[in-house]
Amino acid sequence: KKLVILISGRGSNMEAIIRAQIPGAEVSAVIANRPDAEGLAFAVDQGIVTQVVDHKAYPSREAFDAALADAIDAHRPDLVVLAGFMRVLTDAFVTRYAGRLLNIHPSLLPSFPGLHTHRKALEAGVRVHGATVHFVTPTLDCGPVVIQAAVPVLPGDDEAALARRVLEQEHRIYPQAVRWFVDGRLTLTDGRVLVQGERA
Ligand code: GRF
Repeated sequence: KKLVILISGRGSNMEAIIRAQIPGAEVSAVIANRPDAEGLAFAVDQGIVTQVVDHKAYPSREAFDAALADAIDAHRPDLVVLAGFMRVLTDAFVTRYAGRLLNIHPSLLPSFPGLHTHRKALEAGVRVHGATVHFVTPTLDCGPVVIQAAVPVLPGDDEAALARRVLEQEHRIYPQAVRWFVDGRLTLTDGRVLVQGERA
């Protein structure tokens, strides 16, 4: 199956997915919305096609999303993977990729959608935090959950320490979700996630 991965910055989740060398998965391209996205260098090193669709070059979200969709569709991917992609996507874009658009969010959704999730978790005083891979639907950070991982919030944690602990889990669960999709075991059916062969 062909994958296109979208990044905005560091790209460590992209790197984890590529390093996982998932059988049957081919990363056709890595596309960034910022020319200075650090993660592009790793993709180039791996000999993967990279592209920049700079959101600043477009007058509106609609125009940017249309250009982004054109860049993606040129690769005819089976799956589009948002990996630290920090732009809110229009409903038209999300609908176009319904059932084949995944995102990772650094919280146990539905807790703490949006930005600064680790700060919010510390402020809320939760004892358990984590990460979620979900299918993307028009409402931000609200799509059907594919896989989650929990980590403890420890005494003395600051945002950076907690972020590190969560990120380690992100790098484990995102390749897992992609593996399920590539194996044809993961589908979105009538708005619900189905993982075939998962034990009860
Ligand atoms: C990750 O924590 C991801 O969940 C969040 O932004 C961070 C991106 O990290 N949306 P990276 O670019 O994958 O290293």
